[in-house]
Parts: sequence; structure tokens; C-alpha cells
Amino acid sequence: MTDFERFLAEALPSLGLSPTALRRRNIRRRVMQRMASLGLHDFQAYLALLRRTPGEREALRPLLTVTISRFFRNRKVFDTLARHILAPLSAKGSPARAWSAGCASGEEAFTLRILWEELPAPRPLLSILATDVDEASLARAAAGLYSESSLREVPGPIAEKYFLREEGKYRLREDVVRSVTFQRHDLLFEPPPGVFDIILCRNAAFTYFAPGRRMEIAESIASALPPGGALVLGRTEKLPPGTSAWFTPARPRGAIYLRQGPSDRPYPATSPR
Ligand SMILES: C[S@@+](CC[C@H](N)C(=O)[O-])C[C@H]1O[C@@H](n2cnc3c(N)ncnc32)[C@H](O)[C@@H]1O
Repeated sequence: MTDFERFLAEALPSLGLSPTALRRRNIRRRVMQRMASLGLHDFQAYLALLRRTPGEREALRPLLTVTISRFFRNRKVFDTLARHILAPLSAKGSPARAWSAGCASGEEAFTLRILWEELPAPRPLLSILATDVDEASLARAAAGLYSESSLREVPGPIAEKYFLREEGKYRLREDVVRSVTFQRHDLLFEPPPGVFDIILCRNAAFTYFAPGRRMEIAESIASALPPGGALVLGRTEKLPPGTSAWFTPARPRGAIYLRQGPSDRPYPATSPR
């Protein structure tokens, strides 16, 4: 085992991260840059610092996970979401709530807002809460300014309608930026921030977290969705085994799951972890 592997073996469990999901070469370089900025020259010294300074974990975490996102990421999933989940929800006519968990710089939450705006009027109110553990990502979300690569899956007419070019970047319309509430939230250590009709938890917990922690997150998400509520995952993600009592794949099959009603199976425990 190399020094770096030994470092990961001790540092990852406290962050709830799985070693298998990490891109070793990138993160080794990033961790070494962090160590250099702290005047440290070996992983043992950094481990010692992490042990005595719990706040350093927050600086390490974003170096180990990816915080990149984009609008309409895996566009087919958003097409399905709009047609099979958002349209019927809007047609019900009651106020609705959505949560983007692990929202990075807000692209996913803003995509949801745009899709809602594009549904036929009248539409009930949809409140959208977007959370992430990384404060720098949340600050970028509030700024609403994106590079061209963040827009590469956005349909042309939508890009025209919702974004303005600004010095080589794209500024999202201010009313859209203001329509989403951003908040710091740690999926690993905090209960869900409410009850929602739709939860998006994509390319975060079910990619990076250790298997035991994934089960806890699935249970926690199940407790925040009423029967029929929708959970959206990343295109390549799967729910952990043993969660089929809570979630059933929505039709057409893809990355969307529906919360099973209490008549099918009992709810999981809802107590905060
Ligand atoms: C790859 S981005 C995914 C962004 C978006 N959901 C998407 O699919 O494009 C992963 C995000 O998960 C966040 N994250 C990692 N650990 C987290 C935790 N414990 N609680 C909340 N968010 C976390 C990261 O900060 C990062 O912004």
C-alpha cells in the first residue's frame, strides 16, 4: 500500500466516501497542492493535521469529489421528467416542492425551474430548494454565470430565452436565479430539509458515498417523499439493493423512481441520523 492509499484509507471513512469512486491521479495532485499550501510535505503530516483540526475535512472534501455539473445533464432524463412527472404534477394544480440534493452550482435546480416555466399555464407554485455541502459551489449558483460547456445540452431556443451572453460567458436570467433557494446541507450528517414531491440526487451520494452510507441516504430520501413522489438519479447510478420496498422504477424506465405507497410496504424509519 502506498502512502497515498494509507492516507485515503484513514481520511475517507470520516467523509463517508467510497475509495472505488475516486479518480486517484487527479485527487492525489489536488491533495498534494493543498498540503503544499499548508506547508506540509507528506501524507502522514496531513493526516495528523486532519485528526487535530476537524474543520480541515471541509477543505479536503471538495478535492476528493467532483463538483462539475451542467444544464439539462443527460437531457433524455429531463425530457422524461418533464413529460411524465412535472406535467401531471402541474395539472394537479396544488403547490409543489422539489429538492436538488448535491446541486453543485445550481445547473440541475435551474433546469427544473426552466422546465416548469415551459409547461402550459396556469401552473401552480413550484418551490425549489437546492443544497450542497460545498459553499464555493453555492456561491457560483447564486452568481448565475456559466461557461459555454455548462450549456452544451441546452436546447437552442431555451438557451436563447433564458441566457444572455456576457464577456464570453452565459448569464442566466435573474428571475430564474432568484426563483431557487440555495442552502448548505450535508447529505451525510443532516436529515432531509423537508418533504418534497420531487427529489433529484444525481451524481453525488450514489456515486461517491460508501455502500453503507448509500443505504442511509436512500432511507432518508424515502422519508422525505410521500407516496407517488419522484426520485431522480444520475443516468448511470443505481439505488442500493434492498430499497425496492421504498422505490419502484417509473415508466418509461430510466433514472426516475417513484416512492411506494404505505399500502404496499411500511415506511422506513424517519428519525434523523
Ligand atoms: C458531480 S456534482 C453533481 C451535481 C448535479 N447533481 C449533477 O448531477 O450534475 C456532485 C456534488 O455533490 C456534492 N456533495 C458531495 N458530498 C456531499 C455531501 N455530503 N452532502 C451534500 N452534497 C455533497 C459535491 O459538493 C458536488 O457539488
